[in-house]
Amino acid sequence: MRKILAIGIGTGHPEQLTVQAVQALNQLDVVFLLDKGSEKADLGSLRRELCERYIQQRPVRFVELADSARDAGASSYAQAVQEWHARRLELYEGAIARELPDGGCGGILVWGDPSLYDSTVRLLQQLVARAQVAFEYEVIPGISSPQLLAARHKIALNRIGGAVHITTGRRLAAGMPAEADDVVVMLDGDCSFRHLSDPDLEIYWGAYLGSEHELLIAGPLVRCKEEIQRVRSAARARHGWIMDTYLLRKRPAV
Ligand SMILES: C[S@@+](CC[C@H](N)C(=O)[O-])C[C@H]1O[C@@H](n2cnc3c(N)ncnc32)[C@H](O)[C@@H]1O
Repeated sequence: MRKILAIGIGTGHPEQLTVQAVQALNQLDVVFLLDKGSEKADLGSLRRELCERYIQQRPVRFVELADSARDAGASSYAQAVQEWHARRLELYEGAIARELPDGGCGGILVWGDPSLYDSTVRLLQQLVARAQVAFEYEVIPGISSPQLLAARHKIALNRIGGAVHITTGRRLAAGMPAEADDVVVMLDGDCSFRHLSDPDLEIYWGAYLGSEHELLIAGPLVRCKEEIQRVRSAARARHGWIMDTYLLRKRPAV
């Protein structure tokens, strides 16, 4: 039986892999790498560097898979994502059948933790259900960007006994979620916080968390939002890509 390990690798700091993730890397015969184009090349090379740094017990082979982009101009976001994931499914199915011999162990290195805004686990479930290629799989957790955001700002994400709402920039663009006072926002290419004007909101923003380019800004949203947009767009222009996450926290009424 083939085996696939979906390994959470954290968000860019080579020392933020768990011991379990390092042990998992050392079981691999093949690492499947999705090539996401030149803008994300830094992230691809980081995955290779992690393998070179930590894999000591056996030679590993890298298999690059050319990821097609989601159709950004499609009228339906949900359908565009569905079609994009269907193409990925075929890509992985073919690669596992072709590149991984029976009894072999393949790895997919998942950015951050596989439980948050990542399609790998769903994809593996679907591949098992399709049964075109037989394998079993395991998920190895990693440090996610919200965890690192909290650590770098030296805060807890929840307040005592409180809830934390995790959402996307696309959803935040429709306004703060009802009854949520602590909201983590990911996948926000459009600075959706700029539409909010509640003077009681604070923001804890972080970009390139865990990497040498890390950027942190925190303070009242109304005061910080322009600075964040300025810093963000300059950094994006400099590196060709950016990943940022933030917590919006409503100050309690006094
Ligand atoms: C496709 S999701 C993957 C999330 C990942 N599975 C995790 O556990 O963090 C990508 C989003 O995660 C956040 N993210 C990932 N890496 C980051 C980093 N190094 N710094 C800040 N945000 C990051 C950003 O919001 C980005 O848009």
